[in-house]
Amino acid sequence: MVGEEQGRALGQVAWDGPRATSERVLLRATILARKMVERDRYVRIQDEDGVRSGFLARVITGPFFHRAGTATVAGTSGDSLQTFLLAELEIQGELVDGRPRDTNSRPAPGSPVFALSADEVTRLHGFQGDMLLGNLSGEDDLWVSLQSKNKGILPRNLGIFGTVGSGKSNTAQVVIEEAARNGWAVIVVDVEGEYTDLDLPSDEEELTRRLARFGLQPAGLTNFRVFFPASCTSDKVGAEPFSLRLADFDTSVIGELLQVSAPERNALLDCVEHLQQKARSRLVTSEPESFETLLDASPQAKLPFTLRSLRDRACERSPRSSEFLDYSGLSSKLAWLVHSGAFDQANMNSLDPVRMMAPGRVSVLDVSVANDVVKNMVTADLLRKAFALKMTRADTPPTLLVIEEAHSFISRERAQTMQATMHMLRSVTRRGRKRWLAMAFVSQQPGHLPPELFELCNTRIVHALRSSHNLEALMATTGDVSRDLWSRCPLLGQGQAVLSSPQLNRSVVLSVRPAACRRRFTH
Ligand SMILES: Nc1ncnc2c1ncn2[C@@H]1O[C@H](COP(=O)(O)OP(=O)(O)O)[C@@H](O)[C@H]1O
Ligand SMILES: [Mg+2]
Repeated sequence: MVGEEQGRALGQVAWDGPRATSERVLLRATILARKMVERDRYVRIQDEDGVRSGFLARVITGPFFHRAGTATVAGTSGDSLQTFLLAELEIQGELVDGRPRDTNSRPAPGSPVFALSADEVTRLHGFQGDMLLGNLSGEDDLWVSLQSKNKGILPRNLGIFGTVGSGKSNTAQVVIEEAARNGWAVIVVDVEGEYTDLDLPSDEEELTRRLARFGLQPAGLTNFRVFFPASCTSDKVGAEPFSLRLADFDTSVIGELLQVSAPERNALLDCVEHLQQKARSRLVTSEPESFETLLDASPQAKLPFTLRSLRDRACERSPRSSEFLDYSGLSSKLAWLVHSGAFDQANMNSLDPVRMMAPGRVSVLDVSVANDVVKNMVTADLLRKAFALKMTRADTPPTLLVIEEAHSFISRERAQTMQATMHMLRSVTRRGRKRWLAMAFVSQQPGHLPPELFELCNTRIVHALRSSHNLEALMATTGDVSRDLWSRCPLLGQGQAVLSSPQLNRSVVLSVRPAACRRRFTH
């Protein structure tokens, strides 16, 4: 043990110079320690005081090479060494019972500094888990994993942010692979048709070597299906169409997604009410009953109205349009939906969460050729139905919904006019997490997301972001990331990301591993 400690002894904390700051100290080490004094490396500084055993720190600048006599640092002269290294260490916290916690102190000069073994760093940071995301940046042998069975992680939602090309989709793919491998059902809203080949092995040959370092080989997902909205297409052979049913949506959500005006909204409520009465369907009052209707995906399901009957009613009432009731406006907005061909197709099943929510199954909803309204309605339909199934059936597996381009579903600008959609999202996440329904939001425009949505994402993977607008939105809502870490964000390479999660004791820079399954590149 003592021998091992000695093998990892790097040097000592030097006296502070004139530029000393609260978070940093200087390490003075022998040239022989050069290999272990690289930037981003973690070290332990032994400096006991009360319950504190020492400090956890990270090499942040250097190593700088010095000769005795030329050093400008106080306290370094008079040493017998001719040459030495200096490196700046950033204090990450003080160690109490083997865990780092915030500190108001700094290590004293002369305190011995030790390199940390991979296992020690993994444990100190809280990197152990069954979902292998990648490695700590700059440390190939420090693997970072999330815990699939920890209720504080996926069920408290994931946010994956970063500029175009920064590695978000690869990260989403890795999360999908790892969640599925651990028995989660995963459903992806695929806006670009890039996730439809996940059943094939990755063909990015340059990445195979990196994958092998994690003990992995290119491999496709085995339990995999692709669905697409009626009248759209999917390039995937064997993909199945599904119909959207207008009656499945909350009337206010329909209004918001169609961006109706107030008089159009009144007309919508009036027409829906009329059709519901005409169908003499009892007004469904209890939640379990409404879930049951929602979950009957068969073409025989009893529906109070369809897009066609709603539009016919709006047309019929058009001559009676007034300042308060705009039936004509409504009917032309409904006409968009008719043209989309995605709604109320006879003899076609609707979105069926029962077929998707099986352990280890990954389902992709390919909405790549759908228009924005249809994309958003597919997302809303999925959220509501996955939630309904979770609430009615206790035997469903943990389920992760991956929403790509989340900012186009709900944006900061539109949040005010999308109260009903926000409300649905809020209740699906808040109530769903108790039943292991989780969301992963992916966005290249975090600055356009409503702040409330960030707050729903307790684990965040932030890839390179260059616009200050996008960065500031995250900085304002992610308390546990240091200024220093944020300052690295614009410079992160492809696949690198700041990871902040309740599982970790500190936020870190992560190098995400390449996905083993194939992505379809669409341009
Ligand atoms: N973790 C990674 N390791 C290695 N290369 C990566 C990684 N993530 C992304 N890349 C490379 O960067 C490219 C863009 O990544 P992508 O995930 O499509 O970015 P985004 O979804 O943010 O636009 C990928 O084609 C891949 O070659
Ligand atoms: Mg992408």
